[in-house]
Amino acid sequence: MCGFAGFPEGDGAFTPGGSMSNMLAMIIAREERFTTDEQDGLSGHRAVAYTSDQGHYSVRKNAMLTGIGRRQLRAIESDVRGRMKPDALDAQIKRDLASGFVPFFVNLTAGTTVLGAFDPIEELTDVAHGHGLWVHVDGAMGGSALLSPTHRGNLAGLPRVDSFTWDAHKLMGVPLTSSVCLFRKPGALLRHMNETADYLFQGDDAVVEAGMTSLQCGRRNDALKAWAAWKQLGDDGYTARIDNLVAMAGVAADRIRATDGLTLVKPPEFINVCFTIDGVDSAAMCQALLDEGRAMVGHAKVDGARVVRMAIASPTTPEQLDTFFRSVERTAVELRAIA
Ligand SMILES: Cc1ncc(COP(=O)(O)O)c(C=O)c1O
Repeated sequence: MCGFAGFPEGDGAFTPGGSMSNMLAMIIAREERFTTDEQDGLSGHRAVAYTSDQGHYSVRKNAMLTGIGRRQLRAIESDVRGRMKPDALDAQIKRDLASGFVPFFVNLTAGTTVLGAFDPIEELTDVAHGHGLWVHVDGAMGGSALLSPTHRGNLAGLPRVDSFTWDAHKLMGVPLTSSVCLFRKPGALLRHMNETADYLFQGDDAVVEAGMTSLQCGRRNDALKAWAAWKQLGDDGYTARIDNLVAMAGVAADRIRATDGLTLVKPPEFINVCFTIDGVDSAAMCQALLDEGRAMVGHAKVDGARVVRMAIASPTTPEQLDTFFRSVERTAVELRAIA
């Protein structure tokens, strides 16, 4: 996975999910930046971190869990496609520096949860590294684009960043949980996660003694599942899988454009397709589809309006999509009739 990320010297650890991978990155960045004596914790540093206004909520929660504080996590404005704006990041870092804060960490998102947008890694890394910040990429969802030569360009610049979350349990189809946090430079993970426990860690090889770099002590064998799935599908199988997901998002978008009464909210950035139904509340549509046993799909807010948020996360055919949209159309007729 480090090879795909462009971290030839890198290392990493499996965690119980993308939220925890993001937290591991924040912890290591915090320790690298602030703590010379690990006994003292943050010791009053006014640390601030950044993510976009489209970032996953785990980054906010992690700011609390790591002692940074939710208020010290800035939500940077994104553009019309949902990508963090480099000039807005730069301006906020400068404002924080002028106010005596210590910016240390920026979370970029590769594949945002609602729109599937990819923050521009090159430009944002120029800004963040220019100010000496740690750059993390949350690729919990979009990291798997690396498996496709057609779509990996969405993560251009990744080899420059400091850490990277990639969930095998999302688009790679590995059963929950299977997530990694990868680090470009080896060493920091062991430096900060290691503990002395001579009743357990009796060698000094962190590859064999995986507990020396892990958040947990006992844990499930998440690596084995990812390894076995990859052995079965191979690189080519995964390329085909990712290409299918993105292609089917395109098919879904075309179906919506071609259907009276459905409105595509934005052209898909990746595997997410957001749409609305004329005269029908999106949340009511999702609930009715579920109640009728027709489909299970979620909803979210985009630019203040509630939309149906379809994320095509497992292999799909155009026929299945057509069945789904026919269910949406039938349910819309029923909901309008009782409104
Ligand atoms: C962008 C992003 N980051 C992180 C997560 C959290 O991942 P997990 O559910 O594995 O903790 C998600 C989940 O949807 C996500 O979309």
